[in-house]
Amino acid sequence: MAIRPIVTLGDARLRLPGQPIVRFDRELGRLLDDMVETMDAAPGVGLAAQQIGLDLQLFVMRVDDELYEVANPEILHRSGEEGAWEGCLSVPGYRAWRLRAEHAVVSGQDRHGRRVTISGHGELARAIQHEFDHLHGELYIDGLPADQEILTEEELEARFAEETQAD
Ligand code: NI
Repeated sequence: MAIRPIVTLGDARLRLPGQPIVRFDRELGRLLDDMVETMDAAPGVGLAAQQIGLDLQLFVMRVDDELYEVANPEILHRSGEEGAWEGCLSVPGYRAWRLRAEHAVVSGQDRHGRRVTISGHGELARAIQHEFDHLHGELYIDGLPADQEILTEEELEARFAEETQAD
């Protein structure tokens, strides 16, 4: 296993649409092990292949201590709406308020090619949608309204400190 360098905003590899995974072999298993190790070391909630420079339909997530590995995902269902200060390992140090579906169901394949279906609410639903977008070359900052501010993590902390004092 190895930690791979994470590609950041401005690198064209983040914009490449993922090619389908066709071989569910030991090489794919090693790649997934590296992606999990890279995500956990960052640390992050999810990591897509594009974030280590690969144009593949493959992502990993860890939400509430549960690990998910998904190849060739399709989103089967989205419903509801929920906002949160979202971030991305490829846009380090920043956050923006992003609306997402509160419930999302994704279907794909695990490292052995077996069908997996994940139904998530809240943070898991957000991670599903965020990682799915990466596989199509999209970043969370692409889907923001024109007037939506993008804050540094320091600015965000300062703002919440002010709000707490005002109460
Ligand atoms: Ni991301």
